[in-house]
Amino acid sequence: MESPSAPRRSAALRGRDLLSSADLSASETRELLVLAAELKAGRRQIDLGGKVLGLIFSKASTRTRVSFTVAMARLGGQTLDLNPAVTQVGRGEPVADTARVLSRYVDALAIRTFAQEELADYAHWASIPVINALTDLEHPCQALADYLTLAERFATAADGRLELDRLQGLTLAYVGDGNNVAHSLMLCGALLGVNVRIGCPLGYEPSAAVLEQSRSLAAAQGSSVEVLHEPVASVRGAHALYTDVWASMGQEEEKAARQQAFDGWCLNEELVAEADPRAIVLHCLPAYRGLEISSGAMEGSASRIFDQAENRLHAQQALLAALLGGL
Ligand code: CP
Ligand code: NVA
Repeated sequence: MESPSAPRRSAALRGRDLLSSADLSASETRELLVLAAELKAGRRQIDLGGKVLGLIFSKASTRTRVSFTVAMARLGGQTLDLNPAVTQVGRGEPVADTARVLSRYVDALAIRTFAQEELADYAHWASIPVINALTDLEHPCQALADYLTLAERFATAADGRLELDRLQGLTLAYVGDGNNVAHSLMLCGALLGVNVRIGCPLGYEPSAAVLEQSRSLAAAQGSSVEVLHEPVASVRGAHALYTDVWASMGQEEEKAARQQAFDGWCLNEELVAEADPRAIVLHCLPAYRGLEISSGAMEGSASRIFDQAENRLHAQQALLAALLGGL
């Protein structure tokens, strides 16, 4: 059980869905990051005993699957793997039926799939929280862990607590494909007042709609979202350098063409040298060393990639606690 003196926050998140990073307000995003840091430090305990999270994953996953499973276990709840291959989901049972039935059994669903529309369809029919565990459009759980990692480096007070105002004016530079991970970084970064720079080859820009949405959120926080087409200019002076695979799940056939298009966009030691001297290197993983990131950048002293992977667990514990009303 939580300690009696702990502040009751995030009550407004109870029962909600997380389909996009922009489903959270700026203050809700901050509250989740603060709670994640408190849980990580052992300063908060939350009991979700009896709650069950269902996982419907139509794409491969190591981090998201395991971190959700362990997060529920640590909160005293359970996870049920509703693998589409062994449920009627894989045989094409309509989302409208599956979502309503599962809402009678489990307390939340974490869904990894291709189309954002399918996720939205689940959320429409389910009466329980639906969490985006990655779609082609977004990866909001990843972005929470990523900004927690940035905050640990640049926005932590002497007593170990986060001071998220200190994120304001920092720059996160993402070099690579304007994909799901980039989209959630843009939206979540905008909510936190972080300047987000996307550096990519021509033709691999983020979605125009997400760019417009993130710019309008950033304007409200006094920050910016830019798209550049030159690697060094993209990373110059940045406080975090981030990359992801050039061909996402579902784009396997484009792999060779993308490797050509992204020639010169490897996040390597030369690019790291152009960043702020305190900059950290991030990658959501899995990574292809020698393609989007060099082995040196991945294993170098600036890398926080494995802290970032760990932070999936803490950020998702905070999210589950907020959505399932354990706060
Ligand atoms: N970063 C991430 O979502 O990893 P998985 O695909 O292993 O879940
Ligand atoms: N952009 C990648 C992220 C994997 C975690 C993909 O969608 O495959």
